[in-house]
Amino acid sequence: MLYITDVGPRDGLQSQGTIVGTEGKRALIEALFAAGLRRIEATSFVSPKAVPQMADADALLRGLAVPDDARVSVLVPNQRGLERAVDAGAREIAVVLSATETMNRKNIRMDLDAALNTCRETLAEAVRAGLRTRAYVAVAFACPFEGDTPTGRVVDLALQMRAAGAEEIVIADTIGAAAPSDVERVLGALLGILPAQTIGMHFHDTRGMALANAWCAMARGIRRFDASIGGVGGCPFAPGAAGNLATEDLALMAHQCGFETGIELGAIGAAIETTSRLVGYPVGGRSQRWLARAQA
Ligand code: COA
Ligand code: ZN
Repeated sequence: MLYITDVGPRDGLQSQGTIVGTEGKRALIEALFAAGLRRIEATSFVSPKAVPQMADADALLRGLAVPDDARVSVLVPNQRGLERAVDAGAREIAVVLSATETMNRKNIRMDLDAALNTCRETLAEAVRAGLRTRAYVAVAFACPFEGDTPTGRVVDLALQMRAAGAEEIVIADTIGAAAPSDVERVLGALLGILPAQTIGMHFHDTRGMALANAWCAMARGIRRFDASIGGVGGCPFAPGAAGNLATEDLALMAHQCGFETGIELGAIGAAIETTSRLVGYPVGGRSQRWLARAQA
């Protein structure tokens, strides 16, 4: 089994010029559930001044009908975000720690030490509250401000997040700079220390290598991936970040390689169409034309 978390409603919609309304977001999440997605990052409880696109996190989460076998995660940048998330009924949260000083400052206005402490405290509090937990290590391959990220730092931060209670460490190529050889290097260092089932990978497709990177991680035993419907995505605080690896491309590759994902490719077109309608331009992964033909 390959577990795909669709981060489109959060990573995808946070960077759009248009602010998608709560009803639209709900329709998108429902379309993802209908296509068989069972892990979704629905929104983020961040400052509405920092990310106005996510200002409706409370209302969205409260009104969401979640299938019994599905998991909905929400991103929280600090304890205030965690409190808001718990109030709105969250069962799973993700904290975000960037691997460089500058990216932490740009993203959450903290230096690396402060970000580390905040993530640790937020994770501990989430564990006490009985929530499931993920921790992003962002800009794990390269930072738009500092260049190549030292592998040792990524390993160190991943271990610290694990020790602080994160069930899953998500190694994120926030700006889509990694090549498969980089994935091999980072996973080569991580897999000696952390079991594969505690690691997730989050790729962006800026340089067209996201699918190759995903395969590289799959070949090394990684079974947890973030992706976004139609490949929508980006980060408002990381210049040059393009869309995420498209959910439909990853699912198609996984199926052809013999992995189950629970995703029904025949039904994913509706979720892609919903996304296009919401963002106001046509989205879709590399396999979209083939998928549309196969459906017809
Ligand atoms: N949710 C809502 N509001 C929050 C908040 C949260 N999680 N955390 C802080 N705030 C509010 C404070 O109450 C305060 O409000 P006020 O101006 O009305 O008094 C304001 O935000 C500033 O608080 P402060 O603690 O000084 O935060 P900051 O301005 O240093 O910003 C973050 C820090 C983390 C809140 C902000 O940078 C942020 O939300 N970043 C998220 C970035 C993001 O989502 N990136 C993409 C995903 S990786
Ligand atoms: Zn991302």
